[in-house]
This record gives sequence, C-alpha cells and structure tokens, in this order.
Amino acid sequence: MTMLDELQNAAETLGLSRYVRHIFLCADQTEAKCCAKEAGLESWEFLKRRLKELNLVGPRPLVYRTKANCLRVCVRGPIAVVYPGAVWYHSCSPDVLEEIIQRHLIKGEIVEQYLIARARVV
Ligand code: FES
Repeated sequence: MTMLDELQNAAETLGLSRYVRHIFLCADQTEAKCCAKEAGLESWEFLKRRLKELNLVGPRPLVYRTKANCLRVCVRGPIAVVYPGAVWYHSCSPDVLEEIIQRHLIKGEIVEQYLIARARVV
C-alpha cells in the first residue's frame, strides 16, 4: 500500500472531511498548570460523553475532539479552543462545556462569558 493509500484510508476511516468544528481541550497534562489534573480529566470525560450522547461524533460526525497536553495559556483552565475561528475559552468545567457544546459547537454562537480571545480574521 502506498503512503497516499494509507493516508486516504485513515482519513476515510476517521471521516475527516465531514467534520465542521474541532475542539481542543487541555487535559491530562504532563504538568497540570491551568487546572488540577482531576478537573481536566473530568472535563475531558464529560466532553467525550456528551458529544457521543448528542450524536456529534460517530457515523455522521460534526465535531472532532482532541485532548491537548497544554495549550500554553496555563491559567484559569481547563482551557479549550474551537476551530474554525480559533475561539479560546477558559474555565471549561463540565457545566461550561455543556454551554459551549450547545451554543458554539451546535449553533455556531460564541459563548462570550468564557471567551479569552478569537481570531480577528477567519
Ligand atoms: S496546562 Fe492547560 S494550558 Fe497549559
């Protein structure tokens, strides 16, 4: 199998071309700085569970999720960033993530209350 075939298979298996948004969450860090390690893990487990319950991942995926070791903000975490638009959020506890899921990931609205920064040009 060629490199291109391998990559195309991986992309097909993951459904990469179907994702509309991508959320990165700082969790399970080597060095937990923005929040306690337990808090990051709790948020990560919540995020995974809710995306699945809401059918935002799976056969017709909308949201791709990635656990980041550190997003370099390192205060007031867990920190998350959503693409497209590079929209950065702080204090991403399960309750805050629920709001981000419902308003941003599903409807495309920015949750101003937890916003740190966003790209000026998208
Ligand atoms: S440890 Fe979470 S952003 Fe750096």
